[in-house]
Amino acid sequence: MAAPAAGTGGGRVVFDRIAHSFSVGNGESPTEAIADFSLEMEEGSFVCLLGPSGCGKSTLLNLLAGFDRPSSGRVLVGGRPVLRPGPDRGIVFQEANLLPWRNVLENITLGPELAGRPREETFAAARRFIRLTGLEGFESHAPYELSGGMRQRVALARAWITEPPILLMDEPFGALDAQTRLSMQELLVSILEVTGATVLFVTHDVDEALFLADVIVVMTPRPGRIRQTLVPPFPRPRRYERLLLNPAFTELKHDILQAIRRPEYEI
Ligand SMILES: Nc1ncnc2c1ncn2[C@@H]1O[C@H](COP(=O)(O)OP(=O)(O)O)[C@@H](O)[C@H]1O
Ligand SMILES: [Mg+2]
Repeated sequence: MAAPAAGTGGGRVVFDRIAHSFSVGNGESPTEAIADFSLEMEEGSFVCLLGPSGCGKSTLLNLLAGFDRPSSGRVLVGGRPVLRPGPDRGIVFQEANLLPWRNVLENITLGPELAGRPREETFAAARRFIRLTGLEGFESHAPYELSGGMRQRVALARAWITEPPILLMDEPFGALDAQTRLSMQELLVSILEVTGATVLFVTHDVDEALFLADVIVVMTPRPGRIRQTLVPPFPRPRRYERLLLNPAFTELKHDILQAIRRPEYEI
């Protein structure tokens, strides 16, 4: 489809000395959301942005999405500056935001349909991602007939149908109950094993970051800077139950929680 294939460098992301402020326009001084943020994301890596509420995680994700331009610095995808949203970056938010008058299949195929992609190709891709997200049998269901977890599966399939080399996820499982969240995390990992993608995943849940990430970027409170970059030393495939029995997991979780709750504490 329109997005460049994975493995061609199109999934490499660079945040180059980003600073970002929001002007509120009422004469007050601008809100400094991000200060001096630089990060290189290898193609195919899973990077979690972890930090307290208001530290600028969504702002960074929106800059990579192309919804906004940084006040200074550059965001590069495949070596080129991000200027606007594009089919090379799929996005999943905390709310699925499905169109209530379209069924599951029609929600998943909306993007390619609007882009004028051939119907056969679109439906073949939809079938593949319906299978991968475990939505078989629900194609004709309306969004209101689905649980929160099922709606997020639809949002995942919708983001994935164009096979973007980059996936942006902003607390996608944050509104789900703990068991559904864990099964969605496992589902996400299992799909990535098949499709591959560079993932920027925003969360404030330390367990989630330790379970999912190749790299965890712990941020400071606003203005967001990188406090620490961590590589969880857990081989894949990871099993959550096994991680819970791993002393390194408990220790890392403790240190990260300390760093987030008490910013003066050094990891
Ligand atoms: N559109 C906006 N206008 C003004 N301030 C904003 C806007 N978006 C975010 N902010 C502010 O920037 C800071 C970072 O916000 P955000 O990136 O949403 O944080 P996070 O996702 O880590 O909770 C917060 O102080 C927030 O209030
Ligand atoms: Mg946010």
